[in-house]
Amino acid sequence: MVAGNWKMNGLGASMAELEKMIQGFEPALAARLDLLVCPPATLIAQFAWKSKGSKIAIGAQDCHAKAFGAHTGDLSAEMLRDAGASAVIVGHSERRADHGETDDAVRAKAEAAWRAGLLAIICVGETKTEREAGDTLPIVGRQLKGSVPEKASAANTVIAYEPVWAIGTGLTPTVKDVEEVHGMIRKELVKRFGEAASAIRILYGGSVKPDNAATLLKAADVDGALVGGASLKAGDFLGISRAYSGGR
Ligand code: 13P
Repeated sequence: MVAGNWKMNGLGASMAELEKMIQGFEPALAARLDLLVCPPATLIAQFAWKSKGSKIAIGAQDCHAKAFGAHTGDLSAEMLRDAGASAVIVGHSERRADHGETDDAVRAKAEAAWRAGLLAIICVGETKTEREAGDTLPIVGRQLKGSVPEKASAANTVIAYEPVWAIGTGLTPTVKDVEEVHGMIRKELVKRFGEAASAIRILYGGSVKPDNAATLLKAADVDGALVGGASLKAGDFLGISRAYSGGR
């Protein structure tokens, strides 16, 4: 899977970019990977309408844990599904930092996604300070344990490892570092959910660009990418998709 997180970017005029992505996502590529675009919530319905009949799926960037109610400004997973989303990112580090989302809150959101029939893309990742202190594995392990609900499966969950210090900075971990963290995530998922969990996709995210995608995505236990900045342009986003060979 290659997923694009547009964050707080995109206006109605961005439809032209989505159209280019739809046109450029040729069948040979579509046979190898799932392509997901997560625009801001204001564009989900338009994007879902436009991508109908194509191989591109539309996702959201966050949801509330409840299905409905008095929560001004929030959107439920059911509403996102109703607007045409088939997936939702939960626990992105920007949500954790900007909105104080805890592992418990993220877990509740992932459960809400499942309840609405959405694929939950659950994000984990260490800060620069945590990496420098040598705490990466325990931190990511703790986030994983706290943020992933019981009954996670390949059908309802994708994990995204996004080191906070690599997001939007142009910095990336080495392949060895990526493999170490992804390997730990895989081991923990299998330990908790059984052998079937080896099919849960684990995406890498943080400064993935067309020119480093092949290197990062061929790392062991990397099943795709969660892309920020480079997902805003069809050329870059499709370039990353082409670099992903789909292998493990
Ligand atoms: P960048 O690709 O812009 O570093 O963002 C990564 C990200 O946060 C995707 O969720």
